Amino acid sequence: MQFLLKHPHIPVLGCALAFAGLAALPAIAQDHALEGGSIGVDQVERGQQEYMANCSICHGEDLHSVLSTAPDLTGSVFKYGWVGQTVGAKYNVISTTMPAGMGGSLSDQTYVDIVAYILSANGVPATEDGELPVDPEALQAITITAP
Ligand code: HEC
Repeated sequence: MQFLLKHPHIPVLGCALAFAGLAALPAIAQDHALEGGSIGVDQVERGQQEYMANCSICHGEDLHSVLSTAPDLTGSVFKYGWVGQTVGAKYNVISTTMPAGMGGSLSDQTYVDIVAYILSANGVPATEDGELPVDPEALQAITITAP
């Protein structure tokens, strides 16, 4: 007790640090959301398999590129290249240009599922009854947002 009285700043500092740690958590999580639509759990699962088969050889299994000319699909690239855009805009670019040199080679459903997987991997929550529609126009009405 005498120790605490002599050094009152020690427990106070401990409290302040614990509080700062808690306050910092939401910023670290970097979750994203969709406005006007949602992604589905099954859809994300399908998309992950298709991503691993068709995209990971260049963009990496963890969405960090393994090819110098290919961009990451997460981190600051997602923050500046995806947030604020519509899902339709990303779908259009991906479905017409990817896999590099073979744009349009996958089915529309597969492209939509892969987009859902990339969104999920960047913290967009998937729901049981959610599903991105295979409809480019409807996808234009869904926006990717940051918290
Ligand atoms: C053979 C390697 C390769 C494969 C496979 C590949 N990509 Fe790419 N990707 C690239 C390169 C290189 C670029 C950068 C040049 C460009 O945009 O064409 C790129 C760019 C991109 C971009 C950014 C486009 C933009 O302009 O915003 C996205 C998103 C993307 N790829 C997604 C995918 C997805 C999804 C798949 C799987 C369906 C895929 N890529 C497969 C090499 C690849």
